[in-house]
Amino acid sequence: MSVVGIIPAAGAGERLGAEVPKAFAVLGGRPMVEWSLDVLREVCDRVIVAVPPNRVEPPDFVAGGATRSESVRNALDAAPEATIAVVHDAARPLVTVELVRRCLDALEGVDGVIAAVRVTDTVKEVEDSLVVHTPDRGRLWAAQTPQVFRAEALRATVGEATDDASLVEAMGGRVRVIEGIRENIKVTTPLDARVAEMLLAH
Ligand code: CTP
Ligand code: MG
Repeated sequence: MSVVGIIPAAGAGERLGAEVPKAFAVLGGRPMVEWSLDVLREVCDRVIVAVPPNRVEPPDFVAGGATRSESVRNALDAAPEATIAVVHDAARPLVTVELVRRCLDALEGVDGVIAAVRVTDTVKEVEDSLVVHTPDRGRLWAAQTPQVFRAEALRATVGEATDDASLVEAMGGRVRVIEGIRENIKVTTPLDARVAEMLLAH
């Protein structure tokens, strides 16, 4: 069994609006991606980071693609030995070793495991400013990363999506949801960066 960590870190971070690509913006005193690297390195045999093409110097940094899905594929292609893939966004610096381990422990009998938290807002589906559907909140979970997969299931996926699990689901794969941690927020906007700074300080 060979567990490879994959960190998509090749995004521009347009919504954050920093001077550098988001994963390299300093958060809590270090480039954001380093928080996730430390955690994944503790759990995985090897960690591959997909980065913007001009930042591929360190070993195990590979060039990302134009989309997140492409970046994940480039990283996975660099680890043909992998039997299990742990995908975790550089944009979630508050991940913990404990959360990654719980995902791995839940992989028995399924193709993938994702961390997610129950949605607290009521979610509306809207078209042209009109509500067309209000799904039952009791069944809704907000997907996070880490997302852990049998590598062969992830390798078989095609197309683009905002997370990897949806591609595995589209192939008919079984994906289990486990309770994530609320602190594991995604840094998308400047407000998120402020919140993450506060959480990282504790
Ligand atoms: N990502 C990637 N390759 C891409 C696009 C995104 O590896 N072509 C990564 C980002 O670096 C991030 C994660 O996917 O760690 C989640 O994406 P998102 O939060 O949307 O980050 P960005 O695309 O960088 O931000 P924005 O959409 O605001 O530009
Ligand atoms: Mg993006």
